[in-house]
Amino acid sequence: MKCHLTINGQPHDVESEPEQPLLWVLRDARGMVGTRLGCGVGQCGACTVTVDGVARRACHPPVSAIGQAAIETIESSADAIAQAL
Ligand code: FES
Repeated sequence: MKCHLTINGQPHDVESEPEQPLLWVLRDARGMVGTRLGCGVGQCGACTVTVDGVARRACHPPVSAIGQAAIETIESSADAIAQAL
């Protein structure tokens, strides 16, 4: 399945199985390794990203559930901090 995602304000086309958790799409397909795997069951928060401005665990929702929502990862925060310095 081809997914059209908006990650950190940039469009990305990604090939992925629909049930693949968003976490693995970010890490493996896009190389955004700032989003971490901790517990893998939605409890620890290591994988937290924002989806349309709302904090969500990336280890749990399948990428097919994200739709056209805007995803922000820790890499986006790092860029904002670097620009402010
Ligand atoms: S890895 Fe722990 S909440 Fe996602």
